[in-house]
Amino acid sequence: MTTKRLGVGFIGTGNISSAYLRAIIGHDSLPGFPVLDIKGLADMRPEAAQARASEFGLEAMSIEDMLADSEIALIVNLTIPRAHAAVGLRALTAGKHVYSEKPLGINFTEGKILLDTANKAGLRVGSAPDTFLGGSHQQARAVVDSGALGQIVGGTAFMQVPGHEAWHPDPAFYYDIGGGPVLDMGPYYITDLVNLLGPVARVSAMASRLRLTRPVLSEPKQGQIMDVKVDTHVTGSLGFANGAVVQVGMSFDVAAHKHVPLELYGTEASLIVPDPNLFGGDVEFKKRGREEVWTPVPVTQPYADGNYRSLGVADMAQAILDNRPHRANGDLALHVLEVMEAFEVASREGRTVEIRTPVERPEPLAMSLKDGRI
Ligand SMILES: NC(=O)c1ccc[n+]([C@@H]2O[C@H](COP(=O)([O-])OP(=O)(O)OC[C@H]3O[C@@H](n4cnc5c(N)ncnc54)[C@H](O)[C@@H]3O)[C@@H](O)[C@H]2O)c1
Repeated sequence: MTTKRLGVGFIGTGNISSAYLRAIIGHDSLPGFPVLDIKGLADMRPEAAQARASEFGLEAMSIEDMLADSEIALIVNLTIPRAHAAVGLRALTAGKHVYSEKPLGINFTEGKILLDTANKAGLRVGSAPDTFLGGSHQQARAVVDSGALGQIVGGTAFMQVPGHEAWHPDPAFYYDIGGGPVLDMGPYYITDLVNLLGPVARVSAMASRLRLTRPVLSEPKQGQIMDVKVDTHVTGSLGFANGAVVQVGMSFDVAAHKHVPLELYGTEASLIVPDPNLFGGDVEFKKRGREEVWTPVPVTQPYADGNYRSLGVADMAQAILDNRPHRANGDLALHVLEVMEAFEVASREGRTVEIRTPVERPEPLAMSLKDGRI
């Protein structure tokens, strides 16, 4: 049983906050994360904080009161991408550790300032995604680390959808600066790839933005016209420091496709890695040869069978209490942000962009771990 707990406050209580709160409090068969002691919820719209607090039996408070509360050590920042850096800096200035939704900032400079500020203050930065800690992705990591693929030569990563305006109640931010398929969904794919393969060394890309406005398709804003300020169809290649080259497709313009989310190709075998936006899913393996059958890899790692969004926060809180590194950390998020920005630079300038930020693969989760413990 976890005995020590860390006081946590949430800023931003929109759509995704309910997934975090459900995973932390626990529901159905999910055990929750008792290490996280939720002291309060805040939002620039106090009514949104109050509504979410009432729903979960928690306390709503103002952002000022939250940042002044000495029992809160860690702020979970679930605001929109454009606000991530400003809200994060404000929390750091108040002496709080920060865990931010992705992306860490809407550009590399924002992310770097956030990390430099935290480092100077002796505080920590964590960032989504934490799905790479999910059981299926940790299982894929174990296969890669076993050497069963041989030398990894490359892979593919595809996230291609018609656009989030079909379901999100307030989707304009997906087409604003800080949005687009790369900054929105790239964190899941690139973080998972870095977890599997190590640092990215260079990026090439081409991108398009064929529709300059798009209508909201979901309620309550159905029919409102959104300006598109970012590229919505992006293709490119990631060259990893280990020599592997991965083809990438990220789009909000694709009606349908049949590519799997992630494939890795080795000299001895290939591996299918499931959707990095989810914690679970099927991992499949096929050896070189004529045999046509892909073998399912049994997923024995924990955190594979539900939405554990907040696992990265729980790991960060436990790491603070135990004085060890946390896995969904700022260095990893900054590296991923540099890679994502490089797609834009490579596409605009027609060149290959070198990636400079160093990163280490986070420690795998222990095979012996049980759901709810971290
Ligand atoms: N919705 C999803 O399924 C989903 C999934 C994974 C990650 N995310 C990420 O989570 C973040 C939030 O997404 P969402 O869908 O919950 O958005 P949302 O628009 O539903 O909610 C964002 C909330 O942040 C508040 N906010 C905005 N700026 C603020 C500021 N400066 N200070 C205080 N509060 C502020 C808004 O009032 C709103 O309540 C985004 O970074 C998004 O990429 C969303």
